[in-house]
Amino acid sequence: MSKYFQATASAPVNIACIKYWGKRDTKLILPTNSSLSVTLSQDHLRSTTTSRADPSFTEDTIWLNGKLDEIKPGGRLSTCIDAMRRAREEVEDADPKAEKFSQCKVHICSYNNFPTAAGLASSASGFAALVYSLAKLYQLPASPKDLSIIARQGSGSACRSLFGGFVAWREGTAPDGSDSFAEQVAPEIAWSDMHALICVVSDDKKGTSSTAGMQRTVETSTLFEQRKAVVPGRMRAITEAIHKRDFDQFAEITMKDSNSFHAVALDTDPPIFYLNDVSRAIIAIVTEYNRVSLDAGGKRKAAYTFDAGPNAVIYAPKENIKEIVEMIVEYFPQESFKDTFALFGKEDVRGRLVRG
Ligand code: DP6
Repeated sequence: MSKYFQATASAPVNIACIKYWGKRDTKLILPTNSSLSVTLSQDHLRSTTTSRADPSFTEDTIWLNGKLDEIKPGGRLSTCIDAMRRAREEVEDADPKAEKFSQCKVHICSYNNFPTAAGLASSASGFAALVYSLAKLYQLPASPKDLSIIARQGSGSACRSLFGGFVAWREGTAPDGSDSFAEQVAPEIAWSDMHALICVVSDDKKGTSSTAGMQRTVETSTLFEQRKAVVPGRMRAITEAIHKRDFDQFAEITMKDSNSFHAVALDTDPPIFYLNDVSRAIIAIVTEYNRVSLDAGGKRKAAYTFDAGPNAVIYAPKENIKEIVEMIVEYFPQESFKDTFALFGKEDVRGRLVRG
């Protein structure tokens, strides 16, 4: 048997508070605005990827959840694999003692421990795990920041999954994308009281993909220019809120940015509707929950956010999570949800959404 090289890595999903929506370069995946997300830390939503290089392999091959997938020349998968292979070649060129296996074909197996079609960000965790596993396979000296530049070219949001905690993706200005990378704003332990409750409203595959939807927005929405103008201020304000652990400010900005993203989706021609009636009812519940607190002279207690689908993510301090779950159970029959669980922070409330 020939000598082979193999490595496994895993990466979690991240959920944006300031949304990435729009590319200024579709090939390099350079965004029209910076974004900021929270990487979920529990084990429910992860991609795990094993990469193997073997002289006996005749072509690069990938299996996603056990199914063979196509690696199109010039496509996102081959862009990431080629970039990592080139980095290995550089290591081999620089060090005559380095093992020479950069020219071996690779076989890659990737698994999500959640339904790929669940409308949750599987491309983010998927490309982050892919790039990370190849970096281990090729024993590259690359930093997470360097890897984020490559993962970004697989799927924009994937660059943020290479870091834990609160993560910013800087839009950058360089035409080659060399300054469009992710970096950690604060580790999870800096605000360990922060929890995320994920309400899987629907696990249908979404109608309009993020990639197609955001491009259509860039081309047709007039409201989009206004969104681009307000995002930099939001990035500064939410970063400050995270550093101060000011949930009220964090919540206000997160909800505004989710609404602004869905507004530009609606302003797209033809319009894109990602939210459904259950999503809108969740917005109403969280708004009312916050209003009661604000009217009593208190602060916001929860923040909703929605990506390119109807599923809600509710951020809240740990002490409010129980109340929020009870409220959701009160207003919705259990069948409204496929699954609901908290992922950021230590407490797992999955399975408690049962009436009775
Ligand atoms: C609404 O990263 O999936 O989740 O770069 O085309 O692969 P591509 O898009 P993708 O878009 C994610 C959009 C979003 C917002 C976000 O995660 O910031």
